[in-house]
Amino acid sequence: MFEKLKQRWKVNGLNLVLIITTFAIGGSLCGYAGRKILALTNLEKGALWVILYILLITLLWPLCVLLVSFPFGQFGFFKKYLGRVFKRFGSSHDRGQTVATLNNTGHDGSNRLTRTRIAIFASGAGSNAQQIINHFSSSADITIALIVCNKPGAGILDIAANAGIPSLLIEKERFFTGDNYLPELQDHRINFIVLAGFLWKIPEALIKAYPKKIVNIHPALLPKYGGKGMFGRHVHEAVINNKETESGITIHYVDELYDHGAVIFQATCAINDSDTADTLAQKIHVLEHTHYPKVIAEIVEK
Ligand code: GRF
Repeated sequence: MFEKLKQRWKVNGLNLVLIITTFAIGGSLCGYAGRKILALTNLEKGALWVILYILLITLLWPLCVLLVSFPFGQFGFFKKYLGRVFKRFGSSHDRGQTVATLNNTGHDGSNRLTRTRIAIFASGAGSNAQQIINHFSSSADITIALIVCNKPGAGILDIAANAGIPSLLIEKERFFTGDNYLPELQDHRINFIVLAGFLWKIPEALIKAYPKKIVNIHPALLPKYGGKGMFGRHVHEAVINNKETESGITIHYVDELYDHGAVIFQATCAINDSDTADTLAQKIHVLEHTHYPKVIAEIVEK
């Protein structure tokens, strides 16, 4: 649990202890202050007292934690944290509508054309993500706005840091059974998602929130060599073992099934007798790096 908090809040162990301490002392302080204030009213303890107490501590809590965060050197963290809480609270009622608007039209509320803000979901070395970042680095219309990753320490996180792109480390439970990180995607105004070596299945709620706005690249010619377990080396080994004479890449929309959505683009490469899974992987990477960024640009422009 502590590891997850460290990742979510992007803090080290010492800061995590100071933050938890601030939460604890701030919480007690606001409870104490709430009781003292109510004592001034001479109100009997009963239902009304409880309601007023809850209201008071809800109002006092942000002030108390901010106050306590000073001596613990955590003011910066709590300022941002409370900002996010207020923002989320304020916008939660119209979130569904906003996401739908961004996704379906690519325009903001005023009907002006907005930039396409892409989130790349990746969990590996990130060579495709790197090519995509390079390709759009000086684009006026397309911004790589967020990197989403489910693997601490993955190469893609360094790529994001070097490119100055914010990254979001996600964990399974919230991704599959929680809010699917939709609030963060909305905060970053993401209106298109590119999967580049992301192995988790995309939850239905995300697919619904981004209809025809999520694409994936698969290192084989779908529908062959796709589905659960068909990733990375496993794909190339299966292709070589079956003595195929060609392989290639498939760029496709993402639906609820693995490697199943409508195909957008395919490119092929020949397989020689001397090819191994490793040499085939290299050929496939060349195809991916050549085509994926251009195909993304075409889809987005459409
Ligand atoms: C690529 O081969 C892609 O087809 C697959 O995952 C791999 C990611 O490689 N979906 P990299 O991390 O971009 O180098």
